[in-house]
Amino acid sequence: MWKPPDRIKHKLLNSRWPTAAQAAQSQLFSPISLVNGTTLRERTWVPAMVPWRATEDGDVTPEVLEWYGRFADGQPGAIVVEATGVRDIPSGPLLRIGDDRFLNGLTRLVDVVRQRSGGRTRIFIQLIDFLRIRRRPQRERYLRSFLSITDEHRQRLAEGFEDSRWLTQPEESVRACLVAADENRVKSVLTSREWEALQFGSRERVTDTEEAHIAALPHTLPPLFAAAAQRAQRAGFDGVELHYAHAYTMASFLSRLNTRKDGYGGAREQRLRLPLEVYEAVRAAVGEGYPVGCRFLCDEIIDGGNDVEDAVTFGLAFAQAGMDFLSLSTGGKFEDAKQPKEGKAVYPYTGRSGYECMPTKISDQQGPFARNVPKQAQVRQHIRAAGLSTPVIVAGGICTFEQAEGILKRGEGDVIAAARQSLADPDWFLKMRLGRGDDIVRCEYTNYCEALDQQHKMVTCRLWDRKHLDESGLRKTSDGRRTVAPGWQP
Ligand SMILES: Cc1cc2nc3c(=O)[nH]c(=O)nc-3n(C[C@H](O)[C@H](O)[C@H](O)COP(=O)(O)O)c2cc1C
Ligand code: SF4
Repeated sequence: MWKPPDRIKHKLLNSRWPTAAQAAQSQLFSPISLVNGTTLRERTWVPAMVPWRATEDGDVTPEVLEWYGRFADGQPGAIVVEATGVRDIPSGPLLRIGDDRFLNGLTRLVDVVRQRSGGRTRIFIQLIDFLRIRRRPQRERYLRSFLSITDEHRQRLAEGFEDSRWLTQPEESVRACLVAADENRVKSVLTSREWEALQFGSRERVTDTEEAHIAALPHTLPPLFAAAAQRAQRAGFDGVELHYAHAYTMASFLSRLNTRKDGYGGAREQRLRLPLEVYEAVRAAVGEGYPVGCRFLCDEIIDGGNDVEDAVTFGLAFAQAGMDFLSLSTGGKFEDAKQPKEGKAVYPYTGRSGYECMPTKISDQQGPFARNVPKQAQVRQHIRAAGLSTPVIVAGGICTFEQAEGILKRGEGDVIAAARQSLADPDWFLKMRLGRGDDIVRCEYTNYCEALDQQHKMVTCRLWDRKHLDESGLRKTSDGRRTVAPGWQP
């Protein structure tokens, strides 16, 4: 992962944990209402985290149930189930909701969370669409087989070698020349997209409107999200979170890099058009009173990308449209991601934008803790200034009671999301509430978990995945790690 140049190693924040009485008086453990009838019992939130535990067909497995059940033991105000694909297309061991056949598994998942949290935890599901991305190809295979040879390539070879015979060379000779050529030559002959496909693996963009299925996204996505949301409602979820963040389709529509010319790109209002139309379709499908929110970025952290001013406009528009909550994240984009190894897919959390999404303890002066909350607070301030009360969920390096309570008291956010701290200790919210803060296992922000995600391996935490391996009935990964944190008895 990218690291800030100063590479300062930060210690964990000191924390004085509350007594049970102090917790009971705190804002963190006070309820908040999202929409008619849906209230979170406390302002604690486990945001979406992909654990790589679904079947290859995107179905719920016993490991998925165990993963969410374990978070439910800690009784947070809400758990958001991982990014779940709205299309009915193969996407590896990521959950899917693009067909009714997924309903059984998802219904069981809701039941497990209800049961293990004693009904205290609301369960939402994050709905995602993503475009096709291919692994970085092996160089020779790409140049010999995948690349379509065109007259443009011949032209560039002829110019480069100052030899017009290249204009009429057969395909096999052009390929053989490229395979033998040095990188500068290959780069000068390929188009920028072909060069990117060779270096990173090809990646579709929302601006590829010459492709019919990309041009059609404004027509295809609203009904896909609407059907998925309706299924979530039927499965018993308490609401849905539309994934408008990070490197995926809807965030790409919102991005300043979206230059589509069909009324869905360019100016902010046009970039907002599809996200609002998706929301309207979802709302029409699930009806008033069913919680629908979205996750979006307070800053894309990439050259030419959105900043907090865009986020403020989007936040206001989503709140005005009637969304029931807004969950803010930061960065996590493909544009600044590191080059993957051959045979691997580019991972959107390896550049600076990835760092800002999941900051590690190796940081700059500012450190990794709640570093993007000020931008998220700016979005909230504008929503409040417009007279809207939409709850705003903030995230990124929040791991102590003082931090969480300070954010709430200063009005920087309404609900506190903690991903990695909840992975390190799924009971940490409960321990705080019960005045047992000294038992909390503190996340060390090393991103071992995120490295597993990058390798598409089952996500675990280094603080517990080798502990008590002889526990009876313990499920393990193929390389012998335990799949959930050891239990805790209050
Ligand atoms: C393993 C892992 C998987 C994640 N998957 C998702 C996801 O599916 N959707 C999403 O919006 N964010 C995802 N995130 C980002 C987190 O929700 C969160 O925003 C981020 O980790 C920063 O919060 P933290 O500092 O509390 O960990 C993931 C994070 C981790 C560590
Ligand atoms: S592996 Fe565990 S300790 Fe390390 S960053 Fe992830 S959750 Fe935190």
